[in-house]
Amino acid sequence: MSEKTNLIGELEALQKKAKKELTALDNPAALQAWKRTYLGRSSPVMQIFKRLPEAPKEERPKIGQFANKIKNELEAQFNKQEAAVHQQALSASLQQEKLDVTLPGRQPARGGLHIATQILREIYSIFAEMGFQIYRSPEVESDAYNFELLNIPAHHPARDLWDTFFTTEEGIMLRTHTSPGQVRAMRDFATEPIRVVLPGMCYRYEQTDASHEFQFNQVELLAIGKNITFADLKGTLEDFAKRMYGQNVRTRFRPSYFPFVEPGGEMDIECFVCSGKGCSVCSRKGWLEILGCGMVHPVVLRNGGYDPDVYSGFAAGLGPERIAMLRYHIDDIRDFWANDVRFLEQFSG
Ligand code: DAH
Repeated sequence: MSEKTNLIGELEALQKKAKKELTALDNPAALQAWKRTYLGRSSPVMQIFKRLPEAPKEERPKIGQFANKIKNELEAQFNKQEAAVHQQALSASLQQEKLDVTLPGRQPARGGLHIATQILREIYSIFAEMGFQIYRSPEVESDAYNFELLNIPAHHPARDLWDTFFTTEEGIMLRTHTSPGQVRAMRDFATEPIRVVLPGMCYRYEQTDASHEFQFNQVELLAIGKNITFADLKGTLEDFAKRMYGQNVRTRFRPSYFPFVEPGGEMDIECFVCSGKGCSVCSRKGWLEILGCGMVHPVVLRNGGYDPDVYSGFAAGLGPERIAMLRYHIDDIRDFWANDVRFLEQFSG
């Protein structure tokens, strides 16, 4: 009898103690520790089942049932307390880490078109309005297309103007200008009339400075047909300058030499800085060169498959970076390909 009283009494005292401790707990770690102490395998309540033999046989079921009841109650109380602690932690974190969902979101960083791409597209659209279509030709060229077929034979002194990067394969190089595309387009279309722009990157072995870079874009212009004259060339290029820089732009043509045209020339526009008076930007000339041009040389026409007695044509080579420099008053061509976002960002409209 005394054994029975003892075990039941122990259980009652245990439950009281456990309950008291439980209600004081306010964090998950303490809760788990409590669970191990009072409901774990070696906890006093569980031990009661092992100690049943201490009690008289007839009392054992009752004690067992009572121990079970206590165990279930403790479990229920534990679950209740755990839920309460969890809830408390949740509302505390909601209070502390309040999110203001009405704030505008952060803008992801957006890229923009490179200034050269923008100016190229502008050039394309101006010439598209005049009926020119884009014709792509390779950046890695053969000696034949880059020089020979353009009337620049080996050992011709003009080759000095176009030193470049050669590949390890004999006669294969990075093109020095877009002019080789002229012959490619002619051979493709011969003997149909042609109006194309040939855009793309060119390379030169160059001592770089504010106006020279070893890679740059060019846009080649080519028109072939019957009765095409120098007046067509002049009219087209003057119109281009007006569309690019505004109706009041002043242009001039100067004779110049390029082996693939005859006659050849260069077009200047009036210096934007000094309005033609002469300053350091235009080397005191008052004019800035933006392109080379001329009537396609009979040798080149023939190399392209056009009979020079029947067909004629004009060609020009524009420097888009230079054109952009004049438009935006950029004073160093090396900025284009230096990949400095502080420069590029200014044009990422
Ligand atoms: N290809 C020449 C260069 O890079 C530029 C040029 C001059 C192109 C006269 C032409 C032209 O089409 O007619 O220096």
